Amino acid sequence: MPLPGQFVMELKFQNEIFDVVSSYVNLKRRGKNAIGLCPFHGEKTPSFYVYPESGSFYCFGCGAGGDVITFIEKIENFSYIESVHFLSNRAGMSIPDIDQDNGLMKVRERIFAANREAAKFFYKSLYQNEKALDYLKLRGISDNIIRRFGLGFAPISGFALADYLLKKGFSRDELIKANLVFANKSGVSDRFYNRIMFPIIDLRGNVIAFGGRTISDKVPKYLNTADTAVFKKSANLFALNLAKSAIKDSIILAEGYMDVIALHQFGFKTATATLGTALTIKQAKVISGCAKEVIICYDSDEAGQKATERAIPILKDEGLLVRVLTIPRGKDPDEFIRSFGQEGVFRFKQLINNSNNDMEYRLQKIRKLFDRDTVDGKIAYLKEAVKILCTLENNIEQEIYASRLSEEINIEKSSIMQQVKKGRNKLKKVSFNKKITDIQRNISATRDKINPEKSKFLRAASAEEALLSYMIHNPCEVENISKKLPPEEFCTDFNKRVYVNILQKIKKDPQINIGDFSEKFSSDEIGRITKFFISYISKNDMEKSVDEYINIITLEKNRVKIQESSSINSIEIENYFKILKSEKCGRN
Ligand code: CTP
Ligand code: MN
Repeated sequence: MPLPGQFVMELKFQNEIFDVVSSYVNLKRRGKNAIGLCPFHGEKTPSFYVYPESGSFYCFGCGAGGDVITFIEKIENFSYIESVHFLSNRAGMSIPDIDQDNGLMKVRERIFAANREAAKFFYKSLYQNEKALDYLKLRGISDNIIRRFGLGFAPISGFALADYLLKKGFSRDELIKANLVFANKSGVSDRFYNRIMFPIIDLRGNVIAFGGRTISDKVPKYLNTADTAVFKKSANLFALNLAKSAIKDSIILAEGYMDVIALHQFGFKTATATLGTALTIKQAKVISGCAKEVIICYDSDEAGQKATERAIPILKDEGLLVRVLTIPRGKDPDEFIRSFGQEGVFRFKQLINNSNNDMEYRLQKIRKLFDRDTVDGKIAYLKEAVKILCTLENNIEQEIYASRLSEEINIEKSSIMQQVKKGRNKLKKVSFNKKITDIQRNISATRDKINPEKSKFLRAASAEEALLSYMIHNPCEVENISKKLPPEEFCTDFNKRVYVNILQKIKKDPQINIGDFSEKFSSDEIGRITKFFISYISKNDMEKSVDEYINIITLEKNRVKIQESSSINSIEIENYFKILKSEKCGRN
């Protein structure tokens, strides 16, 4: 059952879109509107607009758009009803008592509850299993850390957790949805068994997933919860819930669970890790909400170094400072720190102090590749170094590194700077071209995922969109238009759905808001509809052409109808043209 319109209106009134968006995006006022960097795709020049008057936002770069509820859905990864909860909490309102029983909300709450119970079960099981406890002891993990991280053990039987949770009143379906069990012939069995369990906890304290390390030689070594309704591996970090309160400016980013645990145990309480995947943009965004600087401390093997190279630009694109800590002798942080006992703390602090910023790190790496004593080596090194300098946005930074490079290989700074400027221009050209193609892709009908029929009916679809936009801005004209244009005349299905929705709404209420579409349209579709809201066509300009647009649409529709009903197939058309051609030739 939908929420009462009155309530939703009040909710939006109490949660002014400018204020809400401002707590996620740095907005600058631009007349009546505001502009900032889009939080939904990486960009360096702002194309994200907030329109306080209509209570909407729209990104001209990626096409995301909607009202304040859609914004929260997208940025917090919430369902519609969760966003409503979030905003009503924010405004101190209470949600009218309606039937929310059927929705995703309930499923998610059950998964949270099942996970919480599972975590308790694993924790208890750990202290009942000597082998598991021995394993943790052997790895030097203290009781204190076991408690703080809520570590546990999944028993070897393979159905202990399923039995326990079914008795607690969870349904099989709920446990399957939580990815704690999977269905088999005899019922269900546990996803995790004979593994040390690491609960993954979000910033609100919900247990959203688990990682499990085998204590036998069974593969895989680590097994994670697959994505569920409450968990996206690519959007979460291990132990960020614990790290967050300790962070002043920088955060330590490691590769594995055990690394994070060792670092916390030795007092480096800002350590986190991705969950067995390469760092994603989403994770970088989450980090940038908690810290200013990231100290990457991946394993010192080749895979770790490659992962470091990939992570650097992703983090920098989110405005984070980056330093890279290099662990000597092919170790990971856990092995390194434990190999020194208590002295490990001091040693690791030294590594942090000696860690290079990302530029120094990258220059250091290529320095090893070339023999700078030979002329050829020098030139090759310079070429690579200039490539790296070209990635710097800031002129002063370019100058600083160019100076150092000039001293290092004894080449005029000005010639290095010249090369850097050249390279930057090339890069700019490439990124400009890329931007243009991106924009073209976005607007190019052939790639329109939201309205796939647009490519077939280019002119009609544009006319439909102009009409929809006009109706949204001039609701009093809707009835008039609806008399001239029945929905069946629309050429593209998506626009028809929008049209029908507008006609239905206008029967109940003389106004049209973005929120009116939230029930029947996906969040990507809402983005498109928002575009209709903001592409304002003045009444004067439009009135003259309303009939013209209706004409274009009906003509196009007629053409389609004729094509569909006529029996001429493509071969016949081809033949027809051949005949025409030969007739023409004959005449000449
Ligand atoms: N990982 C995974 N699946 C695997 C192996 C690894 O998801 N089959 C992820 C885990 O998150 C793990 C991280 O990658 O923590 C790093 O893997 P690895 O370096 O192999 O393990 P360690 O962290 O060193 O774990 P341990 O010390 O327990 O061997
Ligand atoms: Mn390890």
